Amino acid sequence: MNRADAHKRIAKLREEISRHDHLYYVLDLPEISDASYDRLLRELVSLEEEYPDLASPDSPTRRVGAPPRDDLPKVPHVKPMLSLESVTEESEAREFDRRAKKLLGTEEIVYAVEPKFDGLSVELIYEDGVLSRGATRGDGAVGEDVTPNIRTIRSVPLRLRGGGAPRTAAIRGEAIMPLEAFRGLNRWMTEREQPAFANPRNAAAGSLRQLDSRITAERPLAFYAYEIMAIEGLEAPATHSAELERLSSWGFLVDAHRGTCRTIDEAIAFHASLASKRDSLPFEIDGVVIQVDDKPARERIGMRSRSPRWAIAFKFEPRKEITTVEDIVVQVGRTGKLTPVALLRPVDVGGVTVSRATLHNAGEVAKKDIRVGDTVRIERAGDVIPAVVERIPRKGEKRRAAFRMPGACPVCGAGVAEEGAYHYCTGGPNCPMQLRRGIEHYASKGALDIDGLGAKTVAAMTEAGLVRSIADLYRLDEKALLGLEGFAEKSASNLVAALRAAKKVPLERFLYALGIRNVGEHVASLLAGRYGTLEAVMEATEEDLQTVHEIGPEVASSVSGFFAEKRTRALVAELRSLGVEVLPAPRRAGPRPLAGKTFVFTGTLEGLARDEAERLVKSLGGRAAASVSAKTTYVVAGAEAGSKLEKARSLGVAVLSEKDFMKLVEETSREA
Ligand code: IVH
Repeated sequence: MNRADAHKRIAKLREEISRHDHLYYVLDLPEISDASYDRLLRELVSLEEEYPDLASPDSPTRRVGAPPRDDLPKVPHVKPMLSLESVTEESEAREFDRRAKKLLGTEEIVYAVEPKFDGLSVELIYEDGVLSRGATRGDGAVGEDVTPNIRTIRSVPLRLRGGGAPRTAAIRGEAIMPLEAFRGLNRWMTEREQPAFANPRNAAAGSLRQLDSRITAERPLAFYAYEIMAIEGLEAPATHSAELERLSSWGFLVDAHRGTCRTIDEAIAFHASLASKRDSLPFEIDGVVIQVDDKPARERIGMRSRSPRWAIAFKFEPRKEITTVEDIVVQVGRTGKLTPVALLRPVDVGGVTVSRATLHNAGEVAKKDIRVGDTVRIERAGDVIPAVVERIPRKGEKRRAAFRMPGACPVCGAGVAEEGAYHYCTGGPNCPMQLRRGIEHYASKGALDIDGLGAKTVAAMTEAGLVRSIADLYRLDEKALLGLEGFAEKSASNLVAALRAAKKVPLERFLYALGIRNVGEHVASLLAGRYGTLEAVMEATEEDLQTVHEIGPEVASSVSGFFAEKRTRALVAELRSLGVEVLPAPRRAGPRPLAGKTFVFTGTLEGLARDEAERLVKSLGGRAAASVSAKTTYVVAGAEAGSKLEKARSLGVAVLSEKDFMKLVEETSREA
């Protein structure tokens, strides 16, 4: 390809990729598979490598993060970033309405209403439609320049979509971390013995204010735009609602829960309706912003020193509360994981009575130094389990002894094993609590979904000794159930019928139901899609499991370890003999052009990170290994490759440069 062709192709690829980013991250309507997307991105990376002078700050290849910086430089905002006056009572919202009407000398005001996002405010500058700067709020007048970090947020357009861009535009909005991502991040942090974030807002701030934007790139942040602060070279919309439409047409994420209200009553009703949805939204919001929609009217109303008179934040009930720790108990989970839980003096947190809060693990308890009798701040985000955020020291308090993880399982007395940040009961299904939680899980919604087999019933059955393993469920008859509290003839026969009906079970549900550590519904469906039958999953080696897209060493090891256990195999055989039939899944093999080939990466790669390269190999059916042996197909050597390269040469293993490797990938994926 000559330079002119490359130039054209690069422009085309950038447009295509940014269109797919928008479809995926903003509209939630992806049009192509992840693999095809990766292919486009890889092609762009290699073209930009070949023609470095054609690189550009708005290229989607810039989203991967840049090398770390020494500090976050300070930058002044175009206009000060103000705050909103907060109100918590309906009467205060009405008072705001009265004042605004008086100031405007009218009875008719249209209000724009939208969620108040609980993240951190960010200002983005676009010059000729291209993102040139991103800054945090800082002190309101001067923020921190976090441009490389902002570029990694996929819902931030690197170039404004839809042509006719203004010469400059300052866009404001909120960077947030969705709840699911927050949970995942905290799990990840805890597993690596790093402190968990207290709430999604701290997680978003901590992720954005990184000196190393490659870290930000790994954190799933989102950006919701809510304001065009300044605009030059294009007429500014005359209302806030039109402004949000404009932002949306430029490719920004603008939340769908927004509207205009003709009266304050309507705005108050909007607040109530959003409050009722609050727990089911995928991100945290802490109120509703009510603002005069008409921009010229805003000018007439004016400002106070730090907040406008034309807007308020009508807050929801806070999700934080202060209470005392009455006890710290240790809970045993389905996989045997021991979780310290604080039993609290019951307290209302944002409309829900909270009497327990998780303390995650022994390390967290020690770090926060939480003891029985302490006063603590607790917090609840969305439907996430409430957590103890911090201890509030009291003057002159006499404190109890520090918490210690017990040396034996508090339920069955079996030994306790330490794995990473966590402690586990080693009793397996012999531990009544592991058995109970395991059966609850087996019968739960995403698993076998058995009606009439909830937590209470399971507790009664296991306590009565009626059920000592999952297999015993299928041995239950009406007579036995009638001996349990709460069962009548009808409910007993219903449960037996439900169990019988659930004997034919799709592979992915069965895999999930078994309660294998690290195997949730998603991983279960990946396994089912790849292997098709239970036998094939059971026989898969750890190495082979790792070749499944999205499955890493940790999950692979739990799965192969689980099926290697004698008791697992005995259980499966027993279930079969009782008539349980695991239905095969249609295989979603996908192209596997690198199947049977093993790659070892060594030295520094330039175009992509090592784990990206390894994922790429895996996604194409190949295997990525850590060390070189005679079985290695290729060693891919980057800059400053050392002993692995020597070993490859001595064993006669083929050595590829990074370029050769990319070429091989391109060629094989094209053929597939
Ligand atoms: S409008 C005059 N809209 O709330 C300020 N702010 O106290 C106009 N916030 O730090 C801001 N969601 O980051 C506006 N939909 C929304 C918002 C929002 C969250 C934050 C903003 C600011 C704080 C104002």
